[in-house]
Amino acid sequence: MPNIRRIAVSTGGGDCPGLNAVIRAVVKTATNVYGWKVLGIETGFDGLLGRGGARVRPLTAASVRGILPQGGTILGTSNRGNPFAMPDENGLTVDRSREIIARLEELEVDAVVSIGGDGSMRIAEQMMQLGVGMVGVPKTIDNDLAATDVTFGYDSALHVATEAIDRLHTTAESHHRVMVVEVMGRNAGWIGLEAGIAGGADVILIPEIPYRLEEVVNALVRRARAGGKFSIVVVSEGATQQGGEQVYQEATLGSHGSSALRLGGICNNLAQQIADACGAETRATVLGHLQRGGSPSPFDRVLGTRFGAAAVHLVARGGLGRMVALRGTEIVDVSIPEAIAEPKLVNPSGELVQAGRSVGVSFGA
Ligand code: F6P
Repeated sequence: MPNIRRIAVSTGGGDCPGLNAVIRAVVKTATNVYGWKVLGIETGFDGLLGRGGARVRPLTAASVRGILPQGGTILGTSNRGNPFAMPDENGLTVDRSREIIARLEELEVDAVVSIGGDGSMRIAEQMMQLGVGMVGVPKTIDNDLAATDVTFGYDSALHVATEAIDRLHTTAESHHRVMVVEVMGRNAGWIGLEAGIAGGADVILIPEIPYRLEEVVNALVRRARAGGKFSIVVVSEGATQQGGEQVYQEATLGSHGSSALRLGGICNNLAQQIADACGAETRATVLGHLQRGGSPSPFDRVLGTRFGAAAVHLVARGGLGRMVALRGTEIVDVSIPEAIAEPKLVNPSGELVQAGRSVGVSFGA
């Protein structure tokens, strides 16, 4: 067993419900089971640099009391805090990884539990290569990490999206309208597909199945002719028309330091196109960050707790460079390079899509 006395924990990338459940489990397991000290790094890795007033603070049982049902992260997070490509005040990116590593050494940190999505896992892998002991915990509402059956945060986002579709259903029915609702998920259609199926959507448009507007309109017209007085269209923010491009707000600095698109906005265009094509009264709703906020679902609290505890046990076993994951009913661990090798996307001809088609959902293709 490695000689561990102090670990640090950080949350990076976009937040999601369940981060606090993981932090709590890390702190409680490390202190109760192993008697280690835990440091919380604020705002991704910014706390190690004192950037923007962020700092490193001790986390004890008292610091994590009552946080299990809280959304967000008590440590704060950043998706512009890649140590290898940090934006400076002139808008240039600088490599500050050496400073971060020196600070971790100064604080006598033996291992870092990094809670994040694919971007954070890539950073963890780079830090490992520079000699920092890292263990990963997979988070994201997008559920797009291939190494785990599910990331925590996804279930909570799915609940929000499904409830929103249920609510849109009743008002759509009252007014005989077509409601178009845009959900998050980046390049993965999991939220759109599962919330769409759970909410009984008539049309579901996801990035993995580029759509044709004509098909979408045909599906809505067919439904109206069959007596349907309203329709629900769920569109993932990353969906595209066949031969078209993703709709985005801006090109930002991604977590790997490269350019990344901040997706969003497809919903309004699509609602207008539908209204123009079939004359239906149409309204657009963008769920946006509502999907990332609020209290985690029971599933995410439990998964976050299991992941946090497992990450600490992994450190104790010397499993540095690995990420905890859910496979079936078991928590396992996988190498971080394996975890980030490829994204987990919806299989366009898989059983879930087929089930949707079987119950009459149009995917616009
Ligand atoms: O990766 C999580 C996510 O919520 C995506 O679904 C979405 O595209 C993106 O983050 C939004 O990022 P931001 O919080 O920077 O707007």
